[in-house]
Amino acid sequence: MHAPQLAPSLLAADHANLAAGARTVADLGVTWLHCDIMDGHFVPNLSFGPETLAALRRAGSKLFFDTHLMLSEPHRYVEPFAKAGANLISIHIEPAYDHVATLARIRELGCQNGIVLNPGTPARAVEALLPLVDLVLVMTVQPGFGGQSFRRDILPKISQLRDWRAARDLSFRLEVDGGIDLATGAECRAAGADTFVAGTSFFKAPDKPAFASAFAKL
Ligand code: DX5
Ligand code: ZN
Repeated sequence: MHAPQLAPSLLAADHANLAAGARTVADLGVTWLHCDIMDGHFVPNLSFGPETLAALRRAGSKLFFDTHLMLSEPHRYVEPFAKAGANLISIHIEPAYDHVATLARIRELGCQNGIVLNPGTPARAVEALLPLVDLVLVMTVQPGFGGQSFRRDILPKISQLRDWRAARDLSFRLEVDGGIDLATGAECRAAGADTFVAGTSFFKAPDKPAFASAFAKL
């Protein structure tokens, strides 16, 4: 079981000052930054692109960029994101493209890879890919927007993936994303999650050091 890892989501930071958002994370000693990339097609919203990650690197950020591609054609963009400074690139299972080849390409580019499931997608949709990935991201809201309510009905899917991981002697991280705060994060931890995306709850937390250290102890 991996130690709990908090991954604050840049989507909830001030978009006029994303470098300051990244510094807020790093100054707490948190090492991951979740970067939500939206194409207005796979999800009904737009966010930012590879140039944003590259600009954060130029501004000095050493954070681990956990890059969540919510794109209909992610295979077309893994290389620009790797070159821009992504450390991990996760791609959704739902669109039709060559998932296996794209996961392999992400590793060839020197990044860790991840596969993502929407709330309506069953665990068995990614079962065959589990030996090929560094991370499985289980969406706990329908992706597209921050600030939505956590979907408790997703907890059994997290446990299913944890059980398969143990039974097959695999070691991928199990990440949750959407409506995560300390309470829902603890429920996900009990179900088997080890990596916690937090957008709204992190950037609105009045006492961020306390928030981060509570997550580290989940
Ligand atoms: C949802 C994104 C999430 C989002 C989470 O489409 O993938 O990463 O930033 O935001 P909160 O934590 O506000 O639910
Ligand atoms: Zn995300």
